[in-house]
Amino acid sequence: VLTQHSGADLRWVCDASSAARDRAARIAPGARLTASVSDLLEDDSLRALVIATPVASHFPIALEALEAGKHVLVEKPLCQTVLEAERLCSTAERSRRILMVGHTFLYNGAVRRIKAMIDNGELGEIRYIFSRRLNLGIVRQDVDVLWSLAPHDLSILNYWVGRPVRKVSAVGHCYLQPNIADVAFAHLTYEGNIAGHVQVSWLDPSKVRQATVVGSKRMLFYDDMSADSRIVVYDKGVDIDGPDGLGRFETYAQHQLKVRAGDAWLPKIEFREPLVEQIEEFVTCIVDDRKPLADGRNGLEVVSLLERLSLAMRMGAGPDD
Ligand SMILES: NC(=O)c1ccc[n+]([C@@H]2O[C@H](COP(=O)([O-])OP(=O)(O)OC[C@H]3O[C@@H](n4cnc5c(N)ncnc54)[C@H](O)[C@@H]3O)[C@@H](O)[C@H]2O)c1
Repeated sequence: VLTQHSGADLRWVCDASSAARDRAARIAPGARLTASVSDLLEDDSLRALVIATPVASHFPIALEALEAGKHVLVEKPLCQTVLEAERLCSTAERSRRILMVGHTFLYNGAVRRIKAMIDNGELGEIRYIFSRRLNLGIVRQDVDVLWSLAPHDLSILNYWVGRPVRKVSAVGHCYLQPNIADVAFAHLTYEGNIAGHVQVSWLDPSKVRQATVVGSKRMLFYDDMSADSRIVVYDKGVDIDGPDGLGRFETYAQHQLKVRAGDAWLPKIEFREPLVEQIEEFVTCIVDDRKPLADGRNGLEVVSLLERLSLAMRMGAGPDD
């Protein structure tokens, strides 16, 4: 994506592995190759870095890059602890550099469209959201499935709901490697009793990237794997009729719960490759000196939830989990 961006000149590719550098030489013949990040940091003409290394290395590389005065886009998750995330954000803010995190789904046309529908009240009050991200692989050895996949779901849920998370609970199960969960179920309660439920798994027969959003007026189903019906909106709900309007009645005889099932429709989505949109935002924010949607603080909120959920998973784990 970077080689094709008209506003960016890809000067360097750094990778510790020579096989990866060979691949990069074919994809980006104009870029210089190195195994050492310090070559990039010492190049004064280089303005920005995209860090797509294993999670444990995000923090040290991003910090060094920000301290060297570079703008930084870090793949998700931003880093491994809230303390690290705070340090990255404050370093970026102090040095007036862009710190962005690869929450790619915030640059996805369907996710944006759903956000607009929630904000303009089309769905009514949001009751709950159920998000599923499943596949067979990639099985990682450095992080569990929660840290590998859930950053996407959590960043989407935070974006859609736009409120603080009051309570979390989570369970995870390890089947392939000790102490590395292959499947996790995370539950969040946002302010206002909005529930968010997330299932992530790298041990599942099907590639699934779906969410159900239930509102008081309408409901929708989002399927990122569907080419032509990414969003289906349902005019469905349960209306409560009573003498004093919603929910105020003395006896059950005074109210009725009426199931409403009307039309369903597919909103049109302007869809561009989210990675292209993400890189576009990074470059534009550097040029225009403005904050990206997925900025460091956005990354920090997700790392904070991951930390809380991991703790809940550990606290609830039994000997067989
Ligand atoms: N946004 C997304 O949808 C998405 C998808 C896949 C991966 N990711 C993220 O991208 C990151 C990398 O994942 P991956 O699957 O590409 O991993 P990977 O292990 O396939 O690749 C990482 C590369 O980093 C290199 N590397 C490691 N440490 C280095 C260092 N200190 N200096 C230079 N090079 C170093 C390795 O040699 C390797 O080539 C992870 O943070 C992951 O969460 C994001």
